[in-house]
Amino acid sequence: MKLPEWYPNEAPIYDISKTYSENAEYGPFFDGPIFKRENPKQFFDFLGFPVRSKIGVPAGPLLTSKWVALAARLGFDIPTYKTIRSEAHPSHRLPNVTFVNAEGRQIKDPGPLSELTITNSFGMPSKSPEFLLEDIAKANRSLSEGQVMIVSVVGTPNRGVSFVQDFVRAAVLAKEGGAKIIEVNFSCPNVEKAEGILYQNPETVHEYTRIIAKAIHPTPLILKVGVFENDHQMKSVLLSAARGGARAICGINSVSMAVHPPLDEGRKTSGVCGGAIREKAIQFIRDASKINRDNRLGLTLIGCGGIMAPDHFDLFFEAGADVGMSATGMMWDPYLALRYHASIK
Ligand SMILES: Cc1cc2nc3c(=O)[nH]c(=O)nc-3n(C[C@H](O)[C@H](O)[C@H](O)COP(=O)(O)O)c2cc1C
Repeated sequence: MKLPEWYPNEAPIYDISKTYSENAEYGPFFDGPIFKRENPKQFFDFLGFPVRSKIGVPAGPLLTSKWVALAARLGFDIPTYKTIRSEAHPSHRLPNVTFVNAEGRQIKDPGPLSELTITNSFGMPSKSPEFLLEDIAKANRSLSEGQVMIVSVVGTPNRGVSFVQDFVRAAVLAKEGGAKIIEVNFSCPNVEKAEGILYQNPETVHEYTRIIAKAIHPTPLILKVGVFENDHQMKSVLLSAARGGARAICGINSVSMAVHPPLDEGRKTSGVCGGAIREKAIQFIRDASKINRDNRLGLTLIGCGGIMAPDHFDLFFEAGADVGMSATGMMWDPYLALRYHASIK
């Protein structure tokens, strides 16, 4: 069966002209038919959970349980519940998403889907703990056999406890809500420096990973990272992550760039994702995979960055990824996972 085209005739399921809260409340904006998936019924192991495919959505586009439920129905077997904090937190104001080219210049026409690139800047908003406890449980209930959800969390500085202890608070909150796998975002490009570049320091990665992994034991812990400055830094951080008790690495996060014109005076740089970061992301997986193998770290590798078409997942798997995820791609083509499943014989 041929799945219908989506882009460019249909709008993305996240409406970039609306605020984050409006998208959370009224989205996802999807009214297409849901097609039966065609891949053979087989199961893979993902951090101790059986999954029907190694296709997922990374932290970001799945704002609430409604979004997770839709992604799951559309064949994304490993959806990630968007990054939550220990307390409610507002979003940056509009614009939150605009089209850019590979150099970070804002453009009107994003071109073909494979190259579609955006800058996104939300500041990691979060709902209240009361809402999250119920909504994470609801999201889990929406999954089918062979699917498992990750919950992404982040710490917030100056919350009356140390930064790492606030990571622990957010992770424990996720676990109370029923999270089966927890990811910590050590790499957001759109927040204050202290929050954004944690992942580049091997000592900090070791200390934070050890403390958080212990607090949520035996729930598997994933570290979300961005691009590294060099191989040496990547190796030191992956070794620290494994020693600290991380079970998996997810990368890459959006790439921080000076966007022209900037989104506003206060946001001279913002995170770039989609087609233009695909090569960087594949290289990241190649490098991480080699370090993982050579040093027998046993880390599961989750690749994301520019997966916009079914064959892009294969590029990540060939580079050494265990799992492939798409954020920008799934927003502009919600049938992306079903297209991938249909391509498997
Ligand atoms: C709308 C949007 C929101 C995002 N929010 C988060 C977030 O809250 N936490 C996080 O770790 N990554 C976030 N990301 C980054 C993605 O998880 C992913 O690492 C990045 O977008 C690269 O994948 P892509 O090219 O498929 O979009 C976000 C990305 C998008 C597009």
